[in-house]
Amino acid sequence: MGLTIALNRGRILEQCLPLLEAAGIRPVEDTGASRKLVFKTIEGEHQLVIMRGSDVPTYVAYGAADVGITGKDTLLEYRGGAGFYERLDLGFGRCRIMSAAPVGAELHQTPLRVATKFVNIAEEYYASQGRHVSIIKLAGAMELAPLMNLADCIVDIVDTGNTLKANGLEPLETIAHISARLIVNHASMKTRFDEVQLLIDQLRQNLPENG
Ligand code: PRP
Repeated sequence: MGLTIALNRGRILEQCLPLLEAAGIRPVEDTGASRKLVFKTIEGEHQLVIMRGSDVPTYVAYGAADVGITGKDTLLEYRGGAGFYERLDLGFGRCRIMSAAPVGAELHQTPLRVATKFVNIAEEYYASQGRHVSIIKLAGAMELAPLMNLADCIVDIVDTGNTLKANGLEPLETIAHISARLIVNHASMKTRFDEVQLLIDQLRQNLPENG
């Protein structure tokens, strides 16, 4: 039995597949054309399991997957305890987690109302700043919250900054730099060291210069 590799469906998956293929790991079926969630691989004993990004650390922490690939934002937000090591920065999916607010807004309110889906990251950040905030958890489209006066500011992913701009918001502070990371279950790192290390080495060899 090879390794079980948990992958974040969506954009990260699309960028992972060519890298995995270069490492000799290719799903037997087109992952995009199937509703399946588990894929055997050609010429390999590894299996790929595809899930929501936020579930990747859970599967790896509990050992249901040996290895996982997901965004650093997901790892920072995860609060399931330390069951995995972060072993490789894959360099793609680069963006930042930032605070943002309507252009020119004065943010003196206490508590400051912060809309985000990154509740833990935001709480930790504002605590480190000594700022009293009220976190409002949203599932998406955080940019809407200040426009509708649901929140004073947001904490969200910023890539090009176009979404902020299109909604009259401006970026404020960078809270974290994000990219796709490979994580390894603690026990697998010991019991399957050779296979895991080979995978890491092969992926590393094929990484584009700095994503
Ligand atoms: C993310 C994020 C912003 C946008 C930022 O959303 O939440 O809305 O991308 O990108 P930009 O700075 O290049 O405009 P995404 O499209 O990933 O969808 P999501 O709402 O599911 O997170």
